Amino acid sequence: MAVLAFETSCDETSVAVVRQGRVLANVISSQIRLHAEYGGVVPELAAREHLRNLLPIAREALREAQVRPDAIEAVAATQGPGLPGALLIGVKAAQAFAYAQRRPFLGIQHHEAHLYSPWICGRPPQADFASFEPNVSLIVSGGHTMLVHVEGELQHRLLGSTVDDAAGECFDKVGKLIGLPYPAGPQIDRLAQEGNAKAYDFPRPMLREPHDDFSFSGLKTSVRYFLRDNSHLLGNPPAVRDLCASVQSAIVEVLVAKTFRAARRLGVSCITASGGVSCNRLLRAQLNATGQSKGFRIRLADLSLCTDNAGMIGILAERKLALCDYASALDEDILPNWSLAGSR
Ligand code: KG4
Ligand code: ZN
Repeated sequence: MAVLAFETSCDETSVAVVRQGRVLANVISSQIRLHAEYGGVVPELAAREHLRNLLPIAREALREAQVRPDAIEAVAATQGPGLPGALLIGVKAAQAFAYAQRRPFLGIQHHEAHLYSPWICGRPPQADFASFEPNVSLIVSGGHTMLVHVEGELQHRLLGSTVDDAAGECFDKVGKLIGLPYPAGPQIDRLAQEGNAKAYDFPRPMLREPHDDFSFSGLKTSVRYFLRDNSHLLGNPPAVRDLCASVQSAIVEVLVAKTFRAARRLGVSCITASGGVSCNRLLRAQLNATGQSKGFRIRLADLSLCTDNAGMIGILAERKLALCDYASALDEDILPNWSLAGSR
């Protein structure tokens, strides 16, 4: 079965072709440069850019996969959550394709696709659901930070999420205070490599609280006050590197500690992580190291699949078709607030 998949929920336009668990093509066009000028994603610009790029990218994906449009057996798109104008482009294009070709359309929940992305591995990427096991999953992106108990394939329960800023948002906002371009997460990761993480002591929010929720806005505020009182540090590159390392270490410590604590409490011995922030080198290293020392199996999304991409949408859609014959109506609306917990 060949599935054509669209992802247009935020600032990446992506189209993938998936067949029998294999990602044959996963073309991604990032709009980062377009939005960098404004310091964040401008929804109207994102929608217009998706509209301009989606069809050329779809043609490129089909060509790369060497699959003809009439060989596509199902079409999937991210239906939510996301920016309304952006979601609309991918969902309506997928529904139009499904209608014209008389194929089923599958609306996919974006975080559910991230949730199963750690089970896609290799070159070319291929789903490895044969080794699936129950896990606690950390989804960390620019817009969301979530802990999820994945009890079985396609059976999951949201344990907790951020009550304010997401981890990626915290990286980006702290980066802005330091004067780094958007998105600052990758830059902080790079600068922190040569910094001293113990140089400055920032709060570890909600680290000791018994629930699985996160909060990162207090950390950002404490960096703001720190820089108000120590603005001279910004002109000193070694101090900036120390600052990046110290902030990164606070964010990562909270993410890692709360993930392992939830897994221990639930008696789960596998931990997975996905989303843009799961590219972070310290986060990956700490998850792997803690997993090894405490006897957990760790599966991190492949670096090429951490940020938004249609490959993970197509893999989940194909799995849903195989396991539960799931399909959505051709006139279903976008669901900009669709939560992983099920509410639409
Ligand atoms: O999943 P994603 O591509 O988009 C959303 O759905 O939000 O995640 C983007 C986020 C941005 O906040 C970016 O700064 C962060 O992921 N990010 C990183 C790294 N790479 C991307 N944060 C920390 N370290 C990184 N290496
Ligand atoms: Zn995402």
